[in-house]
Amino acid sequence: MKVSVKVPATSANLGPGFDCMGLALPLYNTITIEETVLPGTGVEINVFADNDSIDQLSLDHIPLDENNIAYKAVELLYNSIGQTPSELKINIATNIPVARGLGSSSAVIVGALIAANELLGRPADEAALLSIACEIEGHPDNITPAIVGGIVISSQEDDGSVVYRKLDWPSDWAITVCVPDFELSTEISRSVLPTEIPRKDAVFNAQRLGMFIQAVHTKDSELMKLALKDKIHQPYRMKLVPGLDKIIENLRHFDNVLGCVLSGAGSSILIISEKNNLDKIKNIVRETWADQNIKCQIKTMSVENNGAHVVSHDD
Ligand code: HSE
Repeated sequence: MKVSVKVPATSANLGPGFDCMGLALPLYNTITIEETVLPGTGVEINVFADNDSIDQLSLDHIPLDENNIAYKAVELLYNSIGQTPSELKINIATNIPVARGLGSSSAVIVGALIAANELLGRPADEAALLSIACEIEGHPDNITPAIVGGIVISSQEDDGSVVYRKLDWPSDWAITVCVPDFELSTEISRSVLPTEIPRKDAVFNAQRLGMFIQAVHTKDSELMKLALKDKIHQPYRMKLVPGLDKIIENLRHFDNVLGCVLSGAGSSILIISEKNNLDKIKNIVRETWADQNIKCQIKTMSVENNGAHVVSHDD
């Protein structure tokens, strides 16, 4: 049996929603798991680029043994029903840039889990898949939109269950995704965060998150301009993304820009705007990064409303 699952990229945090908010984007990894016939062959993992713009060097660093996150996901699912994975071939076709804050790891975890779940006859429902995936990832902000699509606010409760609600993204707002040519690992990007934050900064973020949800709900661009701010992760990460402070400063002069935020743990940036002047916005980012000798790929995208899904299932 062979199952392929297509999973969208995701952008987490969206400014004030650190570790609890994210959206799916129309860029996809495809994870295929095939049962192999020879007994005792273990689990074979292959990772390859599915698109010329994926940097082969970043794929070369991905482990192909039991430390691979796809393997960990499959193992957790098998273990949850008292089995051990073996005689499996896992192929990971990569279209989502790696270590750029676009949820490439979450997509692999989710794709591997859903494909393995199909092979096993679907022992896990959506709630169980969410819990297992978040156990590996550590937070639900990328995992949830990767599984359910859309823009999602989520939490992981003490018992491991994931609670989420989808928001309706206003169709008048554009999302411009700016991907620089340098990687930033989530591990490094989380290591610069303090373990405790001042109360005034926690209050600031709670205010912005409330504003964000109401701004999306009522399509209120002026409220969104106040909402797309953060004091609990971005200020600490600024030094890891050269040029981000200048890009934010240069975009302040554009009335149609609602905000510019770090995508997940970086290194990509998201610009939320109204749909006019998009070329000028892109030029500002391109030129500001070029001044720092950073090349980038920039694309305006819509929110992907569909989450991970099986694209082929052969017996
Ligand atoms: N919320 C996470 C972070 C996303 O900002 O570190 C990356 O996994």
